[in-house]
Amino acid sequence: MINIVLFGAPGCGKGTQAARLKEHYGIEHVSTGEVIRGHINRGTELGNSMKSYIAQGKLAPDEVVIGMIADYVASHKEVKGCIYDGFPRTTAQAEAFDKIMEENGLSVDLMVDIQVPEEELVKRILLRGKDSGRADDASEEVIRGRLDVYHAQTAVVADFYTKQGKYFSVDGFGTMDEVFDRIVKVIDSLKK
Ligand code: AP5
Ligand code: MG
Repeated sequence: MINIVLFGAPGCGKGTQAARLKEHYGIEHVSTGEVIRGHINRGTELGNSMKSYIAQGKLAPDEVVIGMIADYVASHKEVKGCIYDGFPRTTAQAEAFDKIMEENGLSVDLMVDIQVPEEELVKRILLRGKDSGRADDASEEVIRGRLDVYHAQTAVVADFYTKQGKYFSVDGFGTMDEVFDRIVKVIDSLKK
């Protein structure tokens, strides 16, 4: 059982690398951003209430995402492991996550922080925005706003895991294969 928090600024490659890690280790992947976009696309009540947060690049309320993850963890206790992508994103979420994991007899093993220079992040998201259909990819203003939110509210979550001795950073600049190899090296070094 291995539980990985995949962390980093918007566009750093969390979703890309999570898909590869899922395949490589045969573990699960959950992205709170994808869960929210799923609700929006299905037009659920929760989706409709989340639309404006996403479109403005603001964080959804803690209680909403914490509830989503609590349900997910409780219904995936028997899996081989899981990659948490885009969660936790605030200190309150990180604290709640520790409790949720403990209540389910689980724990986070490590956080992998994928670090990419800011201008590369903007470039990647603008490129994806041409056909992603994501409301929060549509303009450079919103993309830069998401980066501001990351620095103001999310970056501090790295300290939370540093204090627990679970923080590892990898260079996210390079090809997708290079970044993947760097992440695998970190994970495998812990498994030994
Ligand atoms: P979320 O869906 O989590 O988006 P994000 O964190 O902004 O990150 P992205 O999904 O845009 O990027 P990524 O890191 O996954 O990179 P990707 O692999 O796609 O969250 C969206 C919104 O939902 C939030 O703003 C918030 O409103 C809400 N939300 C979600 N979680 C929340 C939470 N916990 N609390 C509150 N609100 C929450 O890669 C990006 C692009 O780059 C792709 O096109 C990819 O092909 C390309 N790429 C990847 N790797 C490379 C590489 N090595 N070289 C070149 N290009 C690359
Ligand atoms: Mg993503």
